[in-house]
Amino acid sequence: MKLTIFAATGGIGRLLLEQAVAAGHDVTAVARNPQKLPVTPARVVTADLSGADAGALESAVGGADAVLSALGPRTKTDTGVAARGTRVITEAMRATGVRRIVVVSAAPIGTVPSPRRPHPPRHDPGDGFVIRYLADPVLKRILRAHYADLAQMEDVLRDSDLDWTSVRPPRLTSKPLTGTYRTAYGRNIRGGTVISRADVAHYMLRAADQPETFRQTVAVAR
Ligand SMILES: NC(=O)c1ccc[n+]([C@@H]2O[C@H](COP(=O)([O-])OP(=O)(O)OC[C@H]3O[C@@H](n4cnc5c(N)ncnc54)[C@H](OP(=O)(O)O)[C@@H]3O)[C@@H](O)[C@H]2O)c1
Repeated sequence: MKLTIFAATGGIGRLLLEQAVAAGHDVTAVARNPQKLPVTPARVVTADLSGADAGALESAVGGADAVLSALGPRTKTDTGVAARGTRVITEAMRATGVRRIVVVSAAPIGTVPSPRRPHPPRHDPGDGFVIRYLADPVLKRILRAHYADLAQMEDVLRDSDLDWTSVRPPRLTSKPLTGTYRTAYGRNIRGGTVISRADVAHYMLRAADQPETFRQTVAVAR
């Protein structure tokens, strides 16, 4: 497949790039710091997504079969970049007729309010007692701005007419690829509290050409 990978220098992004190149895909990597790319793909485009406009990204996404984004804030200064960057990416996709995008969100986002979903369900049906009443409230306090950004990123996708998938992992680890994990559409996974970045990347590549994942949020967890 012809793939465009955004944030190909991040924890998930670099594994996505490595796995995609190893699988023989024709990859364009987009990064604000391309010197950090772990392998050299067919094409490299430099873009800071906090300030980029869609026009600047059209050459990066044009002709792609799928766009994969592992974009997320590296520091507090980056907060808001997931929604802002995804908006520009989707505008560039629309301008170039590219329809498929897979992004990384997070497990708690189904219960985080956003302008388009001001009253989400109070609890995710996949979450057990510990996540619902202990872990989630603490995380939502500490990561309020980050989660708001991810919820708004999902709004951007819902408002688009694209074939999007928002992958919602729980806590990420740097453990090796296993290729063994569970998935669930529109809800979290009972007892699924962890997954490796390598397995998230593996799932994103797998989902890229799966029509059943279009316009879905998908939980992935061990
Ligand atoms: N940590 C967890 O346990 C957890 C759990 C669930 C979901 N998540 C979500 O998963 C996402 C990805 O995780 P990760 O570990 O791969 O994150 P990461 O290592 O922090 O990677 C973030 C990527 O986004 C890029 N980026 C940030 N701001 C940018 C900008 N303005 N322009 C262009 N690129 C920009 C970074 O580029 P640079 O390399 O140039 O900085 C990096 O490639 C997180 O951001 C979070 O939303 C995390």
